[in-house]
Amino acid sequence: MRYLKRGCWLQLFKFSAVLGSLWILFLLSQLKTGKSPAYILKYQWLVYTDEDESPEKVCNCSAILQGEKEALLQAKLLTITKDFQKVIQIPDEYYINATQDCRKFQKSRKYITFPLNKEEEDFPLAYSMVVHHKVQNFERLLRAIYTPQNIYCVHVDKKAQASVFAAIKAITSCFSNVFMVSKAMNVVYAGWTRVQADLNCMADLYNTSTTWKYFINLCGQDFPLKTNLEIVQALRALKGGNSLESEEMPEGKKGRVSNAHQVVDGKPIGKTKDPAPFNLPILSGNAYIVVNRGYVRSVFEDKRIQALIEWAKDTYSPDEFLWATIQRIPGVPGSTWPNRKFDMTDMNAIARMVKWQWHEGSEGSLQAVYPECKGHHVRSVCVYGAGDLQWLIEQHHLFANKFDADRDPIAIYCLEKYLRHKALTDLV
Ligand SMILES: *[C@@H]1O[C@H](CO)[C@@H](O)[C@H](O)[C@H]1NC(C)=O
Ligand SMILES: *[C@@H]1O[C@H](CO)[C@@H](O)[C@H](O)[C@H]1NC(C)=O
Ligand SMILES: *[C@@H]1O[C@H](CO)[C@@H](O)[C@H](O)[C@H]1NC(C)=O
Repeated sequence: MRYLKRGCWLQLFKFSAVLGSLWILFLLSQLKTGKSPAYILKYQWLVYTDEDESPEKVCNCSAILQGEKEALLQAKLLTITKDFQKVIQIPDEYYINATQDCRKFQKSRKYITFPLNKEEEDFPLAYSMVVHHKVQNFERLLRAIYTPQNIYCVHVDKKAQASVFAAIKAITSCFSNVFMVSKAMNVVYAGWTRVQADLNCMADLYNTSTTWKYFINLCGQDFPLKTNLEIVQALRALKGGNSLESEEMPEGKKGRVSNAHQVVDGKPIGKTKDPAPFNLPILSGNAYIVVNRGYVRSVFEDKRIQALIEWAKDTYSPDEFLWATIQRIPGVPGSTWPNRKFDMTDMNAIARMVKWQWHEGSEGSLQAVYPECKGHHVRSVCVYGAGDLQWLIEQHHLFANKFDADRDPIAIYCLEKYLRHKALTDLV
C-alpha cells in the first residue's frame, strides 16, 4: 500500500467515480424502461420457464398477448389436437401424491413463499374460493394469487366427487394460510346455498385473522388479471370503498324478490313476499365482490343485514342482489348512498370481468360492451380463449371469469406466465 503514491490514489479514485456513475446511468436506464433484470436474477428460480415441462410451452405467449393472428391460429389448432387434449389432463390422484412432500410441491410448482415487498406485506387480503370440480383450474388459480401474507378459505361443494375433495384438501394442507371451510354446503344453482358458501368462508376468514384489509370471493374458474402488488395498489386507491356491481333492479328480475321461491316435493311454489325489512331498497348485482373488512363485520353484526339475510333465503338467485343491496345500506363501511346517481355497473366495478354473450359485438360497434368471445360459451358466459387475452389484460378488473384448463389451457398458461413475469419485475 505504501508504494502507491498520492497520484495513484487519485487515479484510482477517479476510475471508481467513473465506474460508479456508469452504474447509476445503467440503473436509471433500467428504471426508465421499467425493467430490472437484477431482480429477475434475484428470484430466478420463481420465473416460469420452458423447463417446467408444461405441455403448452410450444406456444409463443408474447405473440399471443399481442394478438398476432398466426400465433393465435397455432394455439387454436394445438388446442383441438387429440394428443394435446390428452396430455393436459391431470388426474386428481396426481395432486394427492404430489403434495405428500409439501416442500417439494411448493418448489416444483414455484409458489411464492415470501412477501415480494413491504407494500404487499402490509396489505394482507382474504380470499373465499368456492369450488366444485376442475382441480387443475383451482391449483393454477391458487398459485397465481398465493402469497404468505394473505389468507385463503376454500369451500368445496358437499356433492363434489370424493377425489376432487381429497385433492383440494391435500393441496390446502401444504399451506398454513390456506384452509378448508369449517362448514361445507351442498350448493344449489341460483339458490341460497351459493350465498351461504361464501358466508361460511367469510365468517372463518373474519374469525381467523384480524389483519386483512379486503375480502375477495372467487370461484374455481376465475383467474387474476393483475399481480398481487397491482391488486393491493388498486385496493388502496379505493380509499376504503368497496367495488362491486350495484344498480337498479331491471324490471325482468323483480319477480326474483317479490315472490318466494320454495321447492316443495320437487315443485317450485310461488307466493308473494313481504317487502324487504327496514324498507331496504333491493339492488341488482352479481356474486363477485371486493369489500373491506368493515363491510364483512357489518354482515355479521348489523341488525338490518341480519334481517335482510333471513328475508332473502327463499328468493331466486340471492347472490345477484344481496351483496349489491348491502353495498347501499347507509352506514356500512365503504358503501355508497342508495340514490341511483351512485349506481355502479359490472364494467365500472373492479371485482370481475365476465363477458355475457348478448353484450358482445364486433370491434368498433358502439352497441357492444366488449369484443366477441374468442373461446366458447357456457350458459351465455364466455370461457376465454387465448385470443381474448390481449383485450383482457388491458381491463381494470382484478379478476376475470371464466377459464377452463381442460378446454383452453393456453389462455391460462399465457396469463400466468405474463403475471409471474410482471410480479418479479415490478418490485418496489
Ligand atoms: C414470439 O413472438 C414474438 C413477437 O412476435 C417474436 O418477437 C419472437 O421472436 C417469437 N419467439 C419465437 C421463439 O418464435
Ligand atoms: C408420487 O410422487 C413421487 C414424488 O413425490 C413420484 O416419484 C412418484 O412417481 C409419484 N407416483 C405416482 C403414482 O404418481
Ligand atoms: C367467531 O368465533 C366465535 C367463537 O367460536 C363465535 O362465537 C362467532 O360466532 C364467530 N364469528 C363468526 C362471524 O363466525
